[in-house]
Amino acid sequence: MHMQNVVVMEHPLIRHKITILRKTSTGHKEFCELVEEISMLMAYEATRDLPLKDIEIETPLTKTMQKVIEGKKLCAVPVLRAGLGMVDGIRTLIPNAKVGHIGLYRDHDTLQPVEYYCKLPSDISERLVIVLDPMLATGGSVAAAVDLIKARGAKNIKLMSIVAAPEGIKCVTDRHPDITLYVGAVDEGLNENGYIVPGLGDAGDRLFGTQ
Ligand code: PRP
Ligand code: URA
Repeated sequence: MHMQNVVVMEHPLIRHKITILRKTSTGHKEFCELVEEISMLMAYEATRDLPLKDIEIETPLTKTMQKVIEGKKLCAVPVLRAGLGMVDGIRTLIPNAKVGHIGLYRDHDTLQPVEYYCKLPSDISERLVIVLDPMLATGGSVAAAVDLIKARGAKNIKLMSIVAAPEGIKCVTDRHPDITLYVGAVDEGLNENGYIVPGLGDAGDRLFGTQ
């Protein structure tokens, strides 16, 4: 495992909110709000190294050179469905981010990802791409999503996952050693059905009320 490419969130707000997210008693509305809030806090960490440029502005007192983020070069790519719950958190911080979508579901028997949708901005190769999927279990879905994004020419790719299993981190860092992973928590492992333990259950079902 290339742990040098993995940033595990230490911030007390993120840890606190993930604990509430895990609880069975946390209902649909609160679950959605927490995923959005955690995503916003994680985006703050994941954008720490965005390039800045100098611009001249006028304050009420004088002209001055100051820093702004260089260009509008970010693209968030949620992995459907559960990744959708993370988009608004990013957009709160970066309203101009473009959004691509990748539809993948995990076959219940084989646990292999099955692709059903892919729509990415045409200029994705020039952007920092942040892949969003709250659950990194076997890692198959995210690794396949990154394959699709790389096939469109993207070179600068990060992943944000709220809960990760060590198996998923290993899979993604082995297959894509060039990407940086931002994970909210690293859990114990997977159960016999490929669910993260202790985890939070099925993120898509809890976000969209389909359980
Ligand atoms: C979940 C989750 C991830 C995937 C993680 O999606 O949102 O995409 O499983 O599992 P993996 O790391 O083993 O691939 P799911 O297949 O349940 O689809 P859904 O979001 O449409 O419910
Ligand atoms: N997908 C989920 O939503 N939860 C898990 O624990 C594993 C995969």
